[in-house]
Amino acid sequence: MDNSITSVPKVLVFDSGVGGLSVYQQIEQSYSQLDYLYLFDNEGYPYGELPEHVLIERVMNLVVTMAKQEQVDIVVIACNTASTIVLPHLRQALTIPVVGVVPAIKPAAQLAKRAIGLIATPATVQRPYTHQLIEEFSPYTDVKLLGSTRLVTMAEEKLRGQTVNLDELTHILQPLIGQIDVAVLGCTHFPLLKAEIAQVFGSGVVLVDSGLAIAKRVGTILKLEQSEVVLQKQHAIYSSAAPWEGAALNKGVAQFGFKAIQPFRLHV
Ligand code: DGL
Repeated sequence: MDNSITSVPKVLVFDSGVGGLSVYQQIEQSYSQLDYLYLFDNEGYPYGELPEHVLIERVMNLVVTMAKQEQVDIVVIACNTASTIVLPHLRQALTIPVVGVVPAIKPAAQLAKRAIGLIATPATVQRPYTHQLIEEFSPYTDVKLLGSTRLVTMAEEKLRGQTVNLDELTHILQPLIGQIDVAVLGCTHFPLLKAEIAQVFGSGVVLVDSGLAIAKRVGTILKLEQSEVVLQKQHAIYSSAAPWEGAALNKGVAQFGFKAIQPFRLHV
């Protein structure tokens, strides 16, 4: 098989929902010269509550099918919950590079003087992979874990134009308030709530996510220069099921430069 890239490289960004748009945005801001496909598995959402074997099967089916069908050059699994278990399987099934996202414990440990709060999905905070990251990169700084699916859904709601309820957000983040000086946004949905999370924690807490590191990784793999001119390239968005509040969500994704969400259904 010929793996050489002859035209504009095509990037497939994948998540269970809109969270991966926070990663897409970072990559696209650095490298607007690329073609982008964004695929979200809303039929399997929320990934943070799926049994591992189901999650692996869904991601494999969707990502491998689209990557082959669309002749994608690089896959970005813009989902911590999936990345912590699915990357080895995908790398075995595909010959193109597969980049994943995992909680930014390493940079957080370099910044923290008091304690780190890892905010992620219920699955991510339990994964052995996450605990290995903590042991390896934050052996001396305490990492407090907070897993919440409701927070993920609040980001989904925000992208559909709904106002974030700060009282509810405060209630969810309560176990970490006054306890930490660095918060890791360990789910790609949470940068979409960054302003509100920052407001709840106040100025004494630094928020860290993995978006920029992923963008740099993509650039390194594809040997890219930062783009200076913004070109109108292919940007398309697909979902595995009809999204709830579809019209409102189409308005939300338009802010990221996408036209209407198209169906990408697997008939298995
Ligand atoms: N955005 C995903 C992540 O980074 C997961 C959200 C979900 O639970 O589906 O973990």
